[in-house]
Amino acid sequence: MRVLVIGNGAREHALCLALAHDPSVTALVCAPGNAGTAAVAEQRGVQATDPAAVAELARAVDADLVVVGPEAPLVAGVADAVRAAGIACFGPSQAAARLEGSKAFAKDVMGAAGVPTARARVCVTPDQVVEALDEFGAPYVVKDDGLAAGKGVVVTDDRDAALAHAAACSSVVVEEYLDGPEVSLFCVTDGHAVVPLVPAQDFKRIGDGDTGPNTGGMGAYAPLPWLSADLVDEIVRDVARPTVDELARRGTPFAGLLYVGLAITRDGPRVIEFNARFGDPETQVVLALLATPLAGLLDAAATGHLADLPPLRWHDGSAVTVVLASAGYPDTPRTGDVLTGAEQDGVVHAGTRRRDDGAIVSAGGRVLSATATAPTLAEARQKAYALLASIDLPGGQYRSDIALRATQGAVPG
Ligand code: AMP
Ligand code: GLY
Repeated sequence: MRVLVIGNGAREHALCLALAHDPSVTALVCAPGNAGTAAVAEQRGVQATDPAAVAELARAVDADLVVVGPEAPLVAGVADAVRAAGIACFGPSQAAARLEGSKAFAKDVMGAAGVPTARARVCVTPDQVVEALDEFGAPYVVKDDGLAAGKGVVVTDDRDAALAHAAACSSVVVEEYLDGPEVSLFCVTDGHAVVPLVPAQDFKRIGDGDTGPNTGGMGAYAPLPWLSADLVDEIVRDVARPTVDELARRGTPFAGLLYVGLAITRDGPRVIEFNARFGDPETQVVLALLATPLAGLLDAAATGHLADLPPLRWHDGSAVTVVLASAGYPDTPRTGDVLTGAEQDGVVHAGTRRRDDGAIVSAGGRVLSATATAPTLAEARQKAYALLASIDLPGGQYRSDIALRATQGAVPG
């Protein structure tokens, strides 16, 4: 099978590493890629959000399967264009990707499907915002309705800050605060069958102890020692299946990766958000544990054969990944810093670029993540941090507490 991966982040590098291990993959191309994907896949240039350009590239490289990594191309309709060219695509249509592209749409689907989530109001005027903040009280949760690369959400006790964020967006969702540890559950689906992967936890804030602004994610681990298998079954039954069924019922089936982000509250799991693609950095830890060949799984989802696939197989043990971010991230990330030690096993590249002189330099906010697996979570954590310590990025920032509380037997969050 000839596979084309679209995107240039750590998720795409992790996908390429897993696909390169699948014996059924005879050719692997990544576009536009980064310095990490270039080491495992043939590199092509493409404007990832241009549906016609991606479809043309898929034809040019004779792809049997296209895997679309990031949300922006999906929301732009890249998967539709690839399918229209007669090529299998892992990733939802533009219509189904609205589940991530519009928070108001996601709430509407959840309402129709009876999926448990935070009570919310869609607000377009300042008066509506004030009313909604009063209704739900502090802590205030204000979300930009559109795509914002994980940075459109403000959770704060400061009413003025909540109002200011709402004023900076044209339409917002104001919602009830959900209290409880967060879980990311990735579900592979072909629009009908739903196959959950191992649950993971992401760390969204920039600073240790969950302080500072939200980021795209600063680290992750899997599986979650404090989350029972029953709860995973419950999430599939009460959240993933009804959502997939509702989109099929509307004539816009969702085929690809349904990322369910939840808070495990006192009243049970509640959806915080849906994403229409693999999460980053959770993908690094989930795929590090997956023993089933990845291309077969993604192809089954892309071609509607997921129900025929045998149960997934997993490696024993745990995985931890720690993100190394640029100086200034998330507000004003500095780029162009020279990295050393970035070409080791377990280093998954995000914002990296190889300069003409051969040096690898930072090219984005999240630069790379150091990923390790081990029989125990504590050992995996130690290995990931040891790997990170062997990498140098001037001004680089990382959290020192990824997976720490879980290794202490605590339920984090
Ligand atoms: P989102 O982009 O919707 O995932 O939001 C980013 C982060 O904001 C989440 O991972 C949570 O940490 C936090 N968040 C979002 N919505 C809520 C909520 N209703 N209650 C508490 N925290 C939330
Ligand atoms: N890890 C959060 C995200 O991918 O959106």
